[in-house]
Amino acid sequence: MLHFYLSLRRLERAPPPTRTGLLPYGYARALKHCARQAGGLWACPQPFLYPRPAGGEFLVMKIRPFEFSQADYQAFVEVRQAAHPEAPLNIAQLKHLDQTRFPDEVLRRFLVEQEGQVVGMLEYATPYHNPKPGALEVGYHLHPQAQALATRLWAFLLERVAPLRPYELQAQVREDWPEFGFLLAQGFTEVERKWASVLDLSRFDPGPLQRPLPPGIVLKPLSMLPWQEEAFQRALYSLELELLEDVPTREPITPWPFELWRKRSLEDPNLLPEGFFLALEGQEMVGLTMLFKSSRPQTLQTGLTGVKRSHRRKGIALALKLQAAAFAKAHGARYIRTANHQANRPMLAINEALGFVKEPATVVLRLSPVPSLP
Ligand SMILES: CC(C)(COP(=O)(O)OP(=O)(O)OC[C@H]1O[C@@H](n2cnc3c(N)ncnc32)[C@H](O)[C@@H]1OP(=O)(O)O)[C@@H](O)C(=O)NCCC(=O)NCCS
Repeated sequence: MLHFYLSLRRLERAPPPTRTGLLPYGYARALKHCARQAGGLWACPQPFLYPRPAGGEFLVMKIRPFEFSQADYQAFVEVRQAAHPEAPLNIAQLKHLDQTRFPDEVLRRFLVEQEGQVVGMLEYATPYHNPKPGALEVGYHLHPQAQALATRLWAFLLERVAPLRPYELQAQVREDWPEFGFLLAQGFTEVERKWASVLDLSRFDPGPLQRPLPPGIVLKPLSMLPWQEEAFQRALYSLELELLEDVPTREPITPWPFELWRKRSLEDPNLLPEGFFLALEGQEMVGLTMLFKSSRPQTLQTGLTGVKRSHRRKGIALALKLQAAAFAKAHGARYIRTANHQANRPMLAINEALGFVKEPATVVLRLSPVPSLP
């Protein structure tokens, strides 16, 4: 059973029993779950107890393992919605991410309950996009009324990751989320920033941006190409690897092996083969852009956009993005979203020209060495 030590100093200073021999309600409830340890700390089985913000009573907080059941996925999605309504998640996508983990990857997730209600989630895992051995990606979300629990979650997390001896913890949070300030306070430092940005298609006029394609280049959606054939998939994979090398990230990207890439990319429930465009010169793939379904209403999400070095500055990326925007409109979407590294001037220049509007940045954070519990 999970076991939590409480440094409930307030509990230690609990008032003595009243003349009737009863403790005030909150303390009595707290003590029911706990036993005093040597050194004056209280050890409690699973639930954490903590004071209500208004004081006087204790609420019970419990951290329990995520069961990967439909009900737990639903609870996860709901808590994320309450914490960050601007960035919803969908169950199909979450399940797909979880199910395409390698058996040797770490994935530990927990739900945080308060009085039987799920008010938060916490996880640590092998980094999804850049799975470096020894690094762990951590994340938590808490209902707005339960933010005070962050300190307890952090202690729990440090205790749980210690046996894995990670050399660093990583996190990605939006700069306007409470997680950002909290993680900085725990010693995380900023590594880089990415901007999510959104294009409102109802105000978008592609006319002034349209130019003829360079001779010999055609744009085709995946749906019109033999994308279920392995030879085609391998060519697409090698194009993506080549393009990823040029995405200006602070640390080089460790690419997924082919089989994993195939599962994660081509079996993604959000894949839209009609909204995934390739630029072709004869049989050769020279560029791409891709739109995925999104859990946001009326929205499609951009994945990787790129053009081979040999074919840059010929208007191919812009043409691909315009084609994708036309598809999105015909598909009934109102918004296209994308995310770009702050240092990616070429891609930002194209998106700014198209009219994408930036949102608060997502900040990549690192903590190394990983502190142990005091
Ligand atoms: C970003 C990228 C896709 C641009 O492809 P491209 O086909 O060369 O871009 P285009 O020719 O359509 O450029 C259109 C306009 O964008 C701007 N632009 C493109 N590349 C630029 C650069 N290196 N510096 C400044 N502006 C640039 C220019 O305004 C250009 O118009 P111009 O050539 O008439 O001046 C390409 O550089 C690339 O593949 N980079 C690596 C992958 C990547 O970082 N992808 C984005 C992450 S999702």
